[in-house]
Amino acid sequence: MRILGIESSCDDTSVALVDITNEKIEILAEKTASQIEIHKKYGGVVPEIAGRMHAEKILPVIEEVMKDQDKPDVIAVTSGPGLITGLLVGVEAAKTLSMLWNMPLIGVNHIEGHIYSPFIPNETRQNRVEEESFEEKNLQYTKDKCKSSAIVSEKSLVVHPRDKSCYPILALVASGGHSEIILSKKEGQYEKIGGTRDDAAGECFDKVAKLLGFDYPGGPKISKFAEKGNPNAIKFPRPMIDSKDYNFSFSGLKTSALYWLRDHELSAMKINPIQQPAGIFGMQKEEITIHDFCASFEQAIIDLLVGKTMKAIKKYQPKTIILGGGVSANKKLRETLGNEIKENFPASNYLIPNPKYAMDNAAMIAVATYHHAKKKEFTNWQDLKAESNWHVYDT
Ligand code: KG4
Ligand code: ZN
Repeated sequence: MRILGIESSCDDTSVALVDITNEKIEILAEKTASQIEIHKKYGGVVPEIAGRMHAEKILPVIEEVMKDQDKPDVIAVTSGPGLITGLLVGVEAAKTLSMLWNMPLIGVNHIEGHIYSPFIPNETRQNRVEEESFEEKNLQYTKDKCKSSAIVSEKSLVVHPRDKSCYPILALVASGGHSEIILSKKEGQYEKIGGTRDDAAGECFDKVAKLLGFDYPGGPKISKFAEKGNPNAIKFPRPMIDSKDYNFSFSGLKTSALYWLRDHELSAMKINPIQQPAGIFGMQKEEITIHDFCASFEQAIIDLLVGKTMKAIKKYQPKTIILGGGVSANKKLRETLGNEIKENFPASNYLIPNPKYAMDNAAMIAVATYHHAKKKEFTNWQDLKAESNWHVYDT
């Protein structure tokens, strides 16, 4: 089955043509037009500009992906949740193609896409010549763990979600708009176990990065600076870490970072991350560097995400644990959660996306569509609507 995926829920106009035959996933063509350079100036995604950019890019991106390709069997589009200005563009483009080509159409949930992102194969995993990275070790670990219980493709190291022995799956999806713990007892069925009471983890990274003068998106920059810092240098709070539920709260942490910068007379200081990678911040007295600040802040977010996820794993005993969403590109988060699982739940599979597919992309939307298409859960183009607040556990 050939699926054309379209994703435009935030600041990436992404299109992918994916073939899934006998559970083997192959990406035939993909293209993403990122808007980061434009939104950077504003310190975050501006919905109206995002909508215009998606409208400008959607047809050229579809054209590029479909050049020299036969038509797909199904068209899949993110129809929620996300920015309505972006969703509308993708949804209308998908509806138009469905009408013109007389082709089945499916509206896919963006969070379901992130949950499927670790199943996307990537040749670069094989081609990489660099020393075995943590991610690869993890994939190897996953592969070993799944040998007897799930379908493993030697080529892609992928366990397929259609294998019943992968369930229950527990997924932590942490991105710029979401921080959710989701339980799936069976393919396509989702239950919300926990969520954020206020900001999302990625949003918290981005807002604090902005205070430091870093460009949007700030998560990768904070994490880069954190590499050389001391995660115990500043004692940031871990809001709700001991609460009995599986919910998160990040706004107190963000405020505490703001106060720390203010109290140390740093709020007005804008550092240039490129020119001053080792800037001392004028903090000789306490010898706290920007690296220490970033490492301490990053550690607080990781402790919250990993702490609540481990609590949920303990309760729900999933066979597979998935980490997805843009924040899942964070190396230390991948590593910390991986180590905790390995130590405490060694029998569970731990699946993480290739960093390229941690960010928003259309391949994950196409891959998540397969089981809906198998069940013929199609929508008439006349009926498909963009829904900015559609929760994956609503259906
Ligand atoms: O999933 P995504 O591409 O878009 C949304 O659906 O929101 O996630 C983007 C988010 C941004 O907040 C970005 O700062 C964060 O993911 N992010 C990271 C890292 N890479 C991206 N956060 C922490 N560490 C990273 N390495
Ligand atoms: Zn996303």
